[in-house]
Amino acid sequence: MSRNFLWGSATAAYQCEGGWREGNKGLSNWDVFCHSEKNDVNPVTGDVACDHYHRYEEDIRMLAEGGQNAYRFSIAWTRILPTGVGERNREGIDFYNRLIDTCLQYQVEPLVTLYHYDLPQPLFEAGGWENRRIVEQYLEYARICFEEFGDRVKYWVTINEPNYETLCCYGYGNYPPNVQSLERRWRAMYHMMLASARAVSLYRELGNQGMIGLVSDSYPIVAGDISPECEKAVRKAELFFNLCVNDVCVKGSYPEDFLEQLKEDGYDLSYMLSEDLEVFAKGTVDYLGINAYNRYIAEPCEGDGTNLKANNKGNGENEKFQIGGWFSLGEDKNMEKTPWGMEICPQSIYDLLMTLKELYPRTPVIITENGVGNYDEPVEGQIHDAYRIDYLNGYVDWIEKAMEDGCDVRGYFVWSTMDVYSWINGYKKRYGLVYIDYDSEELRRIPKDSYYWYKNKIQEKGMKFHG
Ligand code: NOJ
Repeated sequence: MSRNFLWGSATAAYQCEGGWREGNKGLSNWDVFCHSEKNDVNPVTGDVACDHYHRYEEDIRMLAEGGQNAYRFSIAWTRILPTGVGERNREGIDFYNRLIDTCLQYQVEPLVTLYHYDLPQPLFEAGGWENRRIVEQYLEYARICFEEFGDRVKYWVTINEPNYETLCCYGYGNYPPNVQSLERRWRAMYHMMLASARAVSLYRELGNQGMIGLVSDSYPIVAGDISPECEKAVRKAELFFNLCVNDVCVKGSYPEDFLEQLKEDGYDLSYMLSEDLEVFAKGTVDYLGINAYNRYIAEPCEGDGTNLKANNKGNGENEKFQIGGWFSLGEDKNMEKTPWGMEICPQSIYDLLMTLKELYPRTPVIITENGVGNYDEPVEGQIHDAYRIDYLNGYVDWIEKAMEDGCDVRGYFVWSTMDVYSWINGYKKRYGLVYIDYDSEELRRIPKDSYYWYKNKIQEKGMKFHG
């Protein structure tokens, strides 16, 4: 069967919608956090963001005019169920109906994320993902979305980035609830994985025909040197960043040595119930969504301490990342980096895709995010983001090479459709194909050079692109 390759770009509700108190929407943990004194690194909010809530038609039109045939966005749980549970909110449902119908009108395939970082505040206060009760609550929310939108949405994402989100919430501590406890982190992530598996099974039980997957921030990991110590560090980094999510949602079980390591760390794992084994085994995904940004260099720990400090200032300064008893991350001084310390290495996507093919030969991949954030400034009304074009162009070419070498990739999404609120990095770290002039009243949209580059690239590669 020949199917269209998905060529698109992506956003998430809190990062672009705005309208934070409109349409009977409830408050999320991000609404509350952004308005609190804890939001002190880049103290801005997503109250208005890109005003996508009102300007979605313009955004989808521009996306379609840019040659893209797919749009990834997320649903705000708080628009569907303002307090997280209970009666469905018609106004919120109508908003997403309009959004989906607009996509279809422009022949744009919607790929919809159910959960992308923003949790209803009452559920957050009850412990959020640390509290097992959330699994049932999430499932109810997912059921409503499948019922309301499943007739038109054929690509679903259960959860975005269980790994990175929990690392920020409980590792770096720069996302709410702003704590530093890896023990709590693993617990929260476990419940996310459980909720995701349940949602996959539910989707099928309801008789839906589309594809449902999970989006995992995944990293090619290389050894700092050829010593056996480094080899061990690589395995631990694989467990920490990749396998604790990917094995669970693709193979339906946790790697044994991952569980061993958690025991060795002395954590209470009584929340892992034996009845969950079957849930994981049954709820494996139809495809794996990959958010691809950078690679990591793994090295043995220096001492036994853990050091987690994020660079949210874009000032080029990075502290050493180390997980005591696991591994630390090294740096290749010869590689180019962004001011946020992200290494630019497009060919690493080839290695990642080949690894995934080997580990999970029967599971197709969709690149659900790929992009680079930086300061962009208009020059005479235009944005010449040549560095972004180089980065994205490299990625697409290496993805193509991986496909030629047998990787089953079904789609590619640039992060992001337009500049959006970049969580704790605020608005200055821009990823968009379209620039947003936040100073203008109408939040003027200006296509960047990369927008036109992408249009040409899609045309050059064609919609079939080995599909
Ligand atoms: C991953 C997340 O899914 C998205 O929300 C975020 O803004 C981008 N990466 C860029 O950091």
